[in-house]
Amino acid sequence: MSHPKDAFARLLPPKLPAPVEAQAHAPSNIALSKYWGKRDHRLNLPLNSSLSISLHQLGSHTRISPSQQDEARLNGTLLPPESAFYAKIFGFVERFRRGQNLPLSISTTNTIPTAAGLASSASGFAALTRALTRSFALNLPDSALSELARYGSGSACRSLWHGFVRWQRGENPDGSDSIAMPLTTRWPEFRLAILAINTSAKAVSSREGMGHTAATSPLFAQWPATAQADCDAIQRAVEAKDFPRLGALAEANALAMHATMQAARPALTYLTPQSWQALADVQALRSQGTEVYATMDAGPNVKLLFEEASLPEISRAFPDATIIAPFAPVPD
Ligand code: PMV
Repeated sequence: MSHPKDAFARLLPPKLPAPVEAQAHAPSNIALSKYWGKRDHRLNLPLNSSLSISLHQLGSHTRISPSQQDEARLNGTLLPPESAFYAKIFGFVERFRRGQNLPLSISTTNTIPTAAGLASSASGFAALTRALTRSFALNLPDSALSELARYGSGSACRSLWHGFVRWQRGENPDGSDSIAMPLTTRWPEFRLAILAINTSAKAVSSREGMGHTAATSPLFAQWPATAQADCDAIQRAVEAKDFPRLGALAEANALAMHATMQAARPALTYLTPQSWQALADVQALRSQGTEVYATMDAGPNVKLLFEEASLPEISRAFPDATIIAPFAPVPD
């Protein structure tokens, strides 16, 4: 069977120039309507569109320099070549180099805990993609960077921009239209809070988790259509700045995703009793009149969605939360 050309063959020149020193930052992102399941594993194509909000300064900073040999650092520590993280980074770099002998030194600093369902892979691959294209002097539009980053991790294609971003499912068999794009809506009062319940690395990666859910969960058949409808409805709520509608849809979407995992065989459980307690606290606050909603990814941490006016109540109920203002100016 012949495969369609992947994005690297399509978008990059056959021969790369010698690399130069380069760096890039990318924000992490949290999906308000989730990506959980692929229609093509080789090209990393999703079953449904998804929509996220970027986490402002929380994310990844990547610096690349030409080197005598490949080496990678994470938060200042040299990674052993046999580590899983090194393999992830250079597996992706190799897609760029396609066998060309261009050794690189890559250093990534995360301002968000790595691999705890706080989307460090999204910002990590987005920053790496941007830094690689700068290092190899490739003049590509952000839409092309989004397509390339998607191969590192699906959610990375949404981390090239700040604010609200939609990853369009796309239709083309080669994945060329499965890319993200920013929404134009700016919502300065929009706030997120991260309740860091457990920031150690998760036992089951998103890739494994969504594969297992799709293969074994009897509830999974319902998911892609629900998630697609939620994505469209959340976009409309963003555009209308209808916060209660946006929050209710995002919370319902996250719970539906976790329900598909819970029904997998064996069950896949990322949420802990502390996550459920936080959800109960959110519901209690809501019943007292505070417009706050929650979302959770492939990890136990809970992210709150609210508007600036509710900050006093949120800070009182969750004094340890990290508060994020996604539309605050971004320093250079
Ligand atoms: O991009 P991945 O492979 O890390 O998967 C992301 C999965 C979720 O975070 C649970 C949902 C999403 O859309 O970000």
